[in-house]
Amino acid sequence: MSHRVETIAVLGSGTMGRGIAHVAALGGFETHLYDVDSGVLERALATIHRNFSKGVDLGKVEAGAADRARQSLSIGTDLAAAVSRADLVIEAVPESMEIKAETIRQVEAAAPPEALFASNTSGLSITEMAAVSGRPQRFAGMHFFNPVHIMRLIELVRGLETSDETVATLEAVGKRMGKECVVVNESPGFVTSRVNALIGNEAFRMLENGVATAADIDKALKLGLNHPMGPFEMADLVGLDVRLGVLRHLHATLGDLYRPSQLLVQYVQAGRLGRKTGRGVYQYDADGRRTE
Ligand SMILES: NC(=O)c1ccc[n+]([C@@H]2O[C@H](COP(=O)([O-])OP(=O)(O)OC[C@H]3O[C@@H](n4cnc5c(N)ncnc54)[C@H](O)[C@@H]3O)[C@@H](O)[C@H]2O)c1
Repeated sequence: MSHRVETIAVLGSGTMGRGIAHVAALGGFETHLYDVDSGVLERALATIHRNFSKGVDLGKVEAGAADRARQSLSIGTDLAAAVSRADLVIEAVPESMEIKAETIRQVEAAAPPEALFASNTSGLSITEMAAVSGRPQRFAGMHFFNPVHIMRLIELVRGLETSDETVATLEAVGKRMGKECVVVNESPGFVTSRVNALIGNEAFRMLENGVATAADIDKALKLGLNHPMGPFEMADLVGLDVRLGVLRHLHATLGDLYRPSQLLVQYVQAGRLGRKTGRGVYQYDADGRRTE
């Protein structure tokens, strides 16, 4: 038994929200994208339309499907209007419990009582958000990956009271969005961030101990273990400060195995945050090309 979902409201139109709206509209859902900032919303819509066209040019999306997706996607800065007819609300607002809880309270007042609610949080508690929602059985995590229209996985995260029916419905929604789902019980870092943080931290420890150069550690994991990116290439892309934040959370919740490497801490202290500052483990020029 599962809920019927035809209309999806996506809250927050930043990096993730616009990607989620893209795959929702292309999956045939009536999709409303909401943000507090109308300028960001306009840019999000333009990006989504551009990505639909790229998909058609690359032969990955049928022209008719892209047209239908464009028509089923609307944007707006009125939260109540965005969620008033939603069967599913997916929030992708900033990673702050305060902002998420306030948004959830407003949705609770305006969305149909039977609507499901999902959060795209990277690490905040689903159970805590579910408690605010007034519908803890109909609340779950839907952890998408960046860029959403390309990455194939969704981690479906069960909070303490998430029902089987909600999980089954969200799996079906994910499938219609063209994604594969894994079901994860709420736990720090879910599956992906926990493993990824550990690999990245170990790479920093090896670099610190002089086991090999950064370039050779990256090359070893790419060519020997078939990882599409080396751990340092990945850390520079994600941001060393973001990675350190995740490790500190995992260290506090899961124990010493996740203690951040001292070299990573020093790089962050030095302002070497990765591509975004032009220098992390590697160095980049103004066009983002690696120079070292
Ligand atoms: N960026 C990633 O790679 C990634 C991956 C997985 C999950 N996430 C999670 O997704 C969520 C969103 O991250 P992002 O990277 O898209 O952030 P972002 O900063 O790119 O976008 C956030 C958007 O929310 C809007 N916003 C701010 N306050 C709002 C409010 N009260 N109501 C509605 N919109 C509001 C902002 O205008 C902005 O457009 C976070 O919880 C993050 O942890 C991010």
